[in-house]
Amino acid sequence: MEDLQKKFEGVIKPGSREALLLTQIRPERLPQHVAIIMDGNGRWALRRRKPRVVGHRAGAKAARRIVETAARLGIPVLTLYAFSTENWKRPQEEIEALMSLLREFLRKELETLKRHDIRLRIIGRWEELEETIRQELHRAMVETAANRRMQLVVALNYSGRTELVDAFRRLYREARESGLPPEAITEALITRYLETADLPDPDLLIRTSGEMRVSNFLLWQIAYTELYVTETLWPDFRPAHFFQALIEYQKRERRYGGLSAVERSPAVLP
Ligand code: IPE
Ligand code: IPE
Ligand code: MG
Repeated sequence: MEDLQKKFEGVIKPGSREALLLTQIRPERLPQHVAIIMDGNGRWALRRRKPRVVGHRAGAKAARRIVETAARLGIPVLTLYAFSTENWKRPQEEIEALMSLLREFLRKELETLKRHDIRLRIIGRWEELEETIRQELHRAMVETAANRRMQLVVALNYSGRTELVDAFRRLYREARESGLPPEAITEALITRYLETADLPDPDLLIRTSGEMRVSNFLLWQIAYTELYVTETLWPDFRPAHFFQALIEYQKRERRYGGLSAVERSPAVLP
């Protein structure tokens, strides 16, 4: 536990609420992969009678803080849902504002990613994004490719179903060429064709702003993920909220369809 305190020295004020929450996190039981549906930017702006883009700007700031916090904690993989394939349904003006925020994020944050030894990865059909963004994404991925502390996976023009469609297309192509028999298709094989092939499944999925749905995010990968939904709107999501989610996660018992620890060894029953 002392370890975690040390990692936040000079960042979190001793005696603050954040510091207190941090003492409740067990470093040996941290999730290996946290995925976040960053939702509620629009409502945050609406409550302030501001245009939605103001909410997105505040949301980008919240994302920066959480990326840094996750890296400090020592979480190996953080996946952020930034833009879904369904988000193209929004007004052109909002889409353009989101893309320009993304460009700004990439420009400003590349140095931060490097400083904190964070590797940037993108999932989703990002090749369909506009040329300047593609170039910046490519550059950021190349320049951080050797970083080891944390992998920051940003889902852009992503949906779980399109990811599966792309995976099945590749799998079918290769299966046809190599004459793969149907029996060779296993869960492990399908997993290998996903963009997240080399990543562990998320242990924890956080969704902000209270919506009880997964909105087409990582459908295959979240089969046994612990879900945590908070009413907090994404722009208000602070390290303290993140710590709370982790504390709650560490209280869960993951059974994967089996029995609880108590029922597995009845000898410990009273
Ligand atoms: C999440 O906030 C950001 C993106 C989907 C890009 P929303 O824009 O969905 O905010 P709400 O849900 O309208 O409040
Ligand atoms: C999910 O949020 C997508 C992202 C956070 C990028 P949405 O706001 O798009 O999801 P719905 O429309 O509430 O399902
Ligand atoms: Mg939303």
